[in-house]
Amino acid sequence: MILITGSAGYIGSHCVLALLEKGYEVVGFDNLSVGHIETVEKLKLYGKDKFKFIQGDLLIENDIQKIFSNYKIDAVIHFAAFSLVGESCLNPSKYYRNNVVGTLNLLDKMVENNVLKIVFSSTAATYGEAQYVPIDELHPKKPCNPYGKSKLMIEEIMDDFDKAYNLKSVRLRYFNVAGADEKTRVGEWHTTETHLIPNVLKSALNENKTFNLFGYDYDTKDGTCVRDYINVEDLIEAHILALEYLNKFETTNFFNLGTNEGNSVKEVFDLCEKITGKKINLNIEKRREGDPATLIAKNKKAKEVLGWEPRKTLYDSIKSAWEYEKSRK
Ligand SMILES: NC(=O)c1ccc[n+]([C@@H]2O[C@H](COP(=O)([O-])OP(=O)(O)OC[C@H]3O[C@@H](n4cnc5c(N)ncnc54)[C@H](O)[C@@H]3O)[C@@H](O)[C@H]2O)c1
Repeated sequence: MILITGSAGYIGSHCVLALLEKGYEVVGFDNLSVGHIETVEKLKLYGKDKFKFIQGDLLIENDIQKIFSNYKIDAVIHFAAFSLVGESCLNPSKYYRNNVVGTLNLLDKMVENNVLKIVFSSTAATYGEAQYVPIDELHPKKPCNPYGKSKLMIEEIMDDFDKAYNLKSVRLRYFNVAGADEKTRVGEWHTTETHLIPNVLKSALNENKTFNLFGYDYDTKDGTCVRDYINVEDLIEAHILALEYLNKFETTNFFNLGTNEGNSVKEVFDLCEKITGKKINLNIEKRREGDPATLIAKNKKAKEVLGWEPRKTLYDSIKSAWEYEKSRK
């Protein structure tokens, strides 16, 4: 059985569906601080007796122990975290406590219960400002906000847990995750939404809403920031390969997950207008502090070692996100 923390959230819920589709049994764990009970209900409907859910908090050790006492867990995929960069700068304590202490509690309980394999959601934010692009795994790691720092600390803790307790981890450093389940069962649903695509699509659904684009004078192809958008279903495929890698090789490793390509904010905006067939209100603002011009992943290592190949295009991601957004209205 696989334990998925953060299973009521955006990426975790897609992972539950994909694992169920592959025949795994899954236990979901989430405190519903950001994730939604409606998402859990959808997963239960689909998973039937192959999916169990425990509402609990990584900061409460007894909540974690309940999972290991009740189910035979073979490996963990750990998504649960807070991940708003701006909020992490205003309230770093909340981020270090939830992300670092919460993960430490989880790792301690794993070791105590002899569960020694974990796939971890890390992030491109562990690299900080790009010193070159595409960014490979050897790029210097200088995160510039508490969110990115919390994820880097966890990666370092995981190295020490490998040495001391033989706990093996695969850390996946995501770039910009986008899109939704093709059947619109789950998708990106954040009450505080900071991600580009859902925000543009919300403006497409509500004509009173204007999309604010920050910065038109970057040194990029059209002056707007360039990011690497990785489809959520492709991203999850890499998690399943990472799980298989851990089972087969029992080795710690880390990989970038992105497409090797970048799209500008303006390109994303234009594609959103094309896919929705709507004219979206656009307001151009000055640059925001701390937004690097270009972030693109080099994904060669994940391709070579995991045999991973992202298949979906930016068009696919926006189309599925749009279908999901409409289904929730
Ligand atoms: N979305 C992206 O583009 C992106 C990019 C890079 C990395 N990540 C990482 O991927 C992971 C998943 O991201 P997401 O977008 O699905 O986030 P999300 O907020 O939708 O999901 C995270 C889930 O974790 C739960 N959670 C948080 N703290 C918890 C705790 N202490 N105990 C139990 N549950 C807790 C929340 O309720 C939520 O359902 C996060 O770790 C995030 O940092 C996301």
